[in-house]
Amino acid sequence: MIDLERLPLKAATPPAWIEAVKRDFNGFLVDHACCERKAASSALSLLARYSKYPVIVETMTTLAREELEHFAQVFRLASDRGLQVGPDEKDHYVNALLKFVRTDTPEIRLLDRLVVSALIEARSAERFRILIEDGDLSPDLQTFYSALHRSEAGHYRVLSASPSAYSLVKMWQRLSPVLQRLKPGSC
Ligand SMILES: [Fe+2]
Ligand SMILES: [Fe+2]
Repeated sequence: MIDLERLPLKAATPPAWIEAVKRDFNGFLVDHACCERKAASSALSLLARYSKYPVIVETMTTLAREELEHFAQVFRLASDRGLQVGPDEKDHYVNALLKFVRTDTPEIRLLDRLVVSALIEARSAERFRILIEDGDLSPDLQTFYSALHRSEAGHYRVLSASPSAYSLVKMWQRLSPVLQRLKPGSC
């Protein structure tokens, strides 16, 4: 499992999060399915917008495929419980982060989008680890979320390795104060 200290998260998820998940695991599953679907959409949108960069096309194709597979798996878990996964709703956490994306040039915008995406992946990895350690999961769900934790941590590594080191440091600096006060959604 990834060492949480090595993730660029300025504030740990509060204990109230896992308590809320345990109280309403079905609600968590539905929200989680939506998050995976949004992650796939986001990768596809970057792929379409920056198709002149082969490395972006390759990275985003892999990412979109994996996120869509995650969505299918979580959707199946939700359906098996008789739950319905509705349409996407606004994600205030993601929208607040995206406000910090600079739009001076398409390339700067891309770099900042990669950093924001990396951060979202890092938060997912952190939360799945909390879920594995504290969530009272069945053995099947324990295996499933352990695999997802590894996958999201891998996405974080790939995305945070994409921008240049300079851009990465600059963007983390800009986001630092925000990360301390922003409240992420369910996943
Ligand atoms: Fe995912
Ligand atoms: Fe991911």
